[in-house]
Amino acid sequence: MIARARKNAAKKKLKPPHVAFVQASLVEPLPLTSETVDCVLSNCAVNLVPLDGKTHLFGEVCRILKHGGRLVIDDVSFFFGFGFKSLWITF
Ligand SMILES: C[S@@+](CC[C@H](N)C(=O)[O-])C[C@H]1O[C@@H](n2cnc3c(N)ncnc32)[C@H](O)[C@@H]1O
Repeated sequence: MIARARKNAAKKKLKPPHVAFVQASLVEPLPLTSETVDCVLSNCAVNLVPLDGKTHLFGEVCRILKHGGRLVIDDVSFFFGFGFKSLWITF
């Protein structure tokens, strides 16, 4: 997956420091320097993190985002009686 992302970025001539890819666990400290990230985008991953892990993860997201940075979450959520829906949350 990350190899494909790197290939697609290279095709668009997107490279560091504007775009970079790192592989990391969402329940451990993210290997990124504090306040260096413009945007965190999560697609269908946050729902897989256990509740106590989510607290850690959002702490890490707050740490790495620059002041005024953006967090975009696209994930599934469950509404009683309506089944699974895709839910976008943008901060
Ligand atoms: C439903 S997939 C979505 C992946 C991608 N956004 C996509 O659209 O193909 C969820 C991904 O989250 C990863 N994942 C789940 N829990 C994780 C964790 N604790 N740390 C890192 N990755 C995790 C899984 O390995 C999987 O690749």
